Amino acid sequence: MALERTFSIIKPDATRRNITGKVLTYIEAAGLRVVAQKRLQLTKEQAEGFYAVHKERPFFNDLVGFMISGPVVVQVLEGENAVAKYREVMGATNPANAAEGTIRKDLAESIEANSVHGSDAPETAKEEIAYFFKDDEIVG
Ligand code: PPS
Repeated sequence: MALERTFSIIKPDATRRNITGKVLTYIEAAGLRVVAQKRLQLTKEQAEGFYAVHKERPFFNDLVGFMISGPVVVQVLEGENAVAKYREVMGATNPANAAEGTIRKDLAESIEANSVHGSDAPETAKEEIAYFFKDDEIVG
């Protein structure tokens, strides 16, 4: 299968606890490669734009508030079947429901402070990558 790319965010609960390296060990152990990465303080506008698809959901303001509560690390991950593979490595949105050995089961604090974001489909991945990275910032 051809290489695929997905978009990842290491969320503020993980940067706050200084466990971005720990998150990376799960990513790399799954055979995914970090081909772009930067640490950012998201603005409210950036977070609202990124999560615009969820703007009618009851938790939207909480989600945006949480995502701007501290720095994040945005990444492009590359590998075979990267989108689905990363979703598997992340585990369920709510860490209480996440499978053993996943990032969210092992590291996340709550459904809000759930440590990581990963694209849900290849098309979304393309849009999310373009939201944060220029082509020449990605080195495969
Ligand atoms: S998913 O992954 O899109 O299927 O998950 P979903 O349940 O639709 O949630 C979308 C994003 O919203 C976050 N979320 C919440 N944030 C704060 N409070 C509550 N209650 C809550 N419920 C869901 C969830 O972590 C998803 O964020 P991302 O960054 O997309 O993983």
